[in-house]
Amino acid sequence: MSTTDAAYQKCINPDCAAEFDCGQAIFKCPACGELLDAQYNWDKIQVPDKLSSFAERWANRDNPLDFSGVWRFRELLNFCRDKYKVTIGEGQTILQQNDTVAQYVGIRPGLLYLQYEGLNPSGSFKDNGMAAAFSHARMVGADSCACASTGNTSASVALYAHSCRLKCTVFIGSGRIAFGKLSQSMDYGAQTIQIQGDFDDCMRRVQDVCTKLGLYLLNSLNPFRLEGQKTIMYRIIEQMGWQVPDWIVVPGGNLGNSSAFGKAFYELKQLGLIERIPRMAIINAAGADTLTHLVNNKKLTWNKGRVDQTVIDDYYADLTARNFSPHTCASAIEISRPVNLKKCLRAIDVCNGVVRAVTDEEICDAKAIIGKYGLGCEPASAASIAGLKHLTAESIIQPDQRVACILTGHPLKDPNVTVDYHKENQGQFSNPPTEAPNQLDEIIKLIKP
Ligand code: F0G
Repeated sequence: MSTTDAAYQKCINPDCAAEFDCGQAIFKCPACGELLDAQYNWDKIQVPDKLSSFAERWANRDNPLDFSGVWRFRELLNFCRDKYKVTIGEGQTILQQNDTVAQYVGIRPGLLYLQYEGLNPSGSFKDNGMAAAFSHARMVGADSCACASTGNTSASVALYAHSCRLKCTVFIGSGRIAFGKLSQSMDYGAQTIQIQGDFDDCMRRVQDVCTKLGLYLLNSLNPFRLEGQKTIMYRIIEQMGWQVPDWIVVPGGNLGNSSAFGKAFYELKQLGLIERIPRMAIINAAGADTLTHLVNNKKLTWNKGRVDQTVIDDYYADLTARNFSPHTCASAIEISRPVNLKKCLRAIDVCNGVVRAVTDEEICDAKAIIGKYGLGCEPASAASIAGLKHLTAESIIQPDQRVACILTGHPLKDPNVTVDYHKENQGQFSNPPTEAPNQLDEIIKLIKP
């Protein structure tokens, strides 16, 4: 089944470079096992000659595709016909300047922007990807789907699955996901399978199950999901008056976002729609720092697509030998075998990227600052602010540069981490509640002047 003849899938391995029709749901190159990209014959697509032309779509907001923060940019992810496109109002997210958080991280007033992806329908950035991936699922006629998840993917998949009437199974590591997210997958009607293991175990299992049972896979191995996630960058540019920032700072888990962002900027530059590509910082949690280790210590690079696989294999063999399982309070990014590692290395190459790891303590303090002075976020999202603080201290990011941090998930996703931080006085910005007897004069005495 051909889709639009403008798009195809292509293996990222330059020594293979096999191409496939977009009508196939394959998710890894059948020839060599590498990741696949969605690619476009741009000469067959009527892409506007300037990005600001997309603003005209705001006049047609009663058309759901123009209202969607993903499909508003449809020429830049033109892999399926309109009749298959799915939207539930994703991408109505906002970029806010925040001078108090800027001061905390050492950026001059007016130059730090926070992109609140928690404002999506399921409360995280995943909805951008799911709008695109579920459109592909409909295009290929899928009737059941699955994913592995640290929580947000499962919430988003469950929501889109019932909106599209697909049967849905989600795999989560037992005891590894925040309650807000677990509650969503159950509430949205997914079959939730809690595997005794961590996310990496779930990721392996879900691939086996999808292959055996022919389920449609919705993890970020799915190249169409990443096409949807490119639009987060378009919206940042849009909200900056069609300018690109100097830096994008993003938490890194399975490395889908960073991969998608690098692809977005590469394509925009190739199309002449931007003049320069911003730099990107990808922030791991210290307890799940595979990317940081491989890039900063082992000097692993994209190397024009010929990534040194032995470095990766040796590292993973060592993790296995040590029976290592990642641990961080930022459970969303508690991942040690990120499936998009190679695409992320490509993004680092495209965006002259840097990688850092931050401790749980730094994450929780940064989260408290975003909560106190901004709209709040979940722990993994705050890794971006904690990482930015490192990078300004190291003078890699300068105080007079314009920085956009991606706040990937809503604060209510993980109330336990928030309550523990404040109630148990775990950090320098803890704001514990005060116990009071049920007596007016005693209560009045407690009110701070
Ligand atoms: N932030 C949040 C809130 C997330 O849920 C995730 C990933 C990330 C950051 C990392 O993004 O994988 O693109 O590097 N959550 C996935 C899940 C793994 O299953 O919900 P990434």
